Amino acid sequence: MKGIILAGGSGTRLRPLTGVVSKQILPVYNKPMIYYPLSVLMLAGIRDILVISSPAHLDMFRDLLGDGSRLGIRLEYAEQKEPNGIAEAFVIGADHIGDDNVALILGDNVFHGHGFSELLRTAAARLDGCALFGYPVNDPWRYGVAELDADRRLTALTEKPTEPVSNIAVTGLYMYSNDVVRMAQELVPSDRGELEITDLNKAYLAQGRAHLAELGRGFVWLDMGTHDSLLEAGHYVQILEQRQGIRIGCVEETAFRMGYISAEQCRRLGAEQSSTEYGSYLVSLVEGDGVYEARARRTAPAG
Ligand code: G1P
Repeated sequence: MKGIILAGGSGTRLRPLTGVVSKQILPVYNKPMIYYPLSVLMLAGIRDILVISSPAHLDMFRDLLGDGSRLGIRLEYAEQKEPNGIAEAFVIGADHIGDDNVALILGDNVFHGHGFSELLRTAAARLDGCALFGYPVNDPWRYGVAELDADRRLTALTEKPTEPVSNIAVTGLYMYSNDVVRMAQELVPSDRGELEITDLNKAYLAQGRAHLAELGRGFVWLDMGTHDSLLEAGHYVQILEQRQGIRIGCVEETAFRMGYISAEQCRRLGAEQSSTEYGSYLVSLVEGDGVYEARARRTAPAG
């Protein structure tokens, strides 16, 4: 399965933060935002990833992430010239997708939860058409909303409804069979002139080929479209990282744990930035028997 991260858009709602940088480069506590969706694709077992962004911002991602070889993955880059909608990613990414299935993740989505990697890999293995991930929210009108029947099967999808039929938002992570390229090419642009992801998903639903997996209470899904939600996501990451001594969205750790890089490579990535907590964390992953043990062996601070 191939991967696409869509890191486009002009980040208008986050101005002036996004005056000169891409929204998906902004810090979420201690990492650039794009690390979080990148680590999700890597956790799904995906190693061939296309980053799509606007012409003004694409080089920032190239400078930040390079060709991916440091993480044992392959990264490519492509421009979305105008904000023509999320589903345009499959038109832009047609060559990248080739004959494979594909997962798309929006560059401003954070996912976190126990068993997420297994859930993703199961969804990828069972994929027939389109796999969506639903999450209960307090403000469904801000999202694509899923309607489910009594057996929790997906029956309808509506984009940002004024009167939502449920509180299940469709998150910004999508998996598709290879025919998504053709389906996206055939999609009619919306009134806003965009290739809407919800229209694409509705086309799969009409064929009986759209399925929704619900992310329950044990999961966290955050998007970062506003100043408040950006700060909240940062706080969430900070609280968990400080409490547990683990890292969320640490792409080097994901690469190591998924076996994309060796222990020695992980140690080297840490040593390159050994003056930071981030760097010593990476070294500790390798030098301990695992993160928990490594942290536990640390001496308590004096006083
Ligand atoms: C997009 C999709 C929406 C989805 C959301 C998830 O909305 O159109 O269906 O629920 O991403 O983040 P946007 O964030 O572009 O307004």
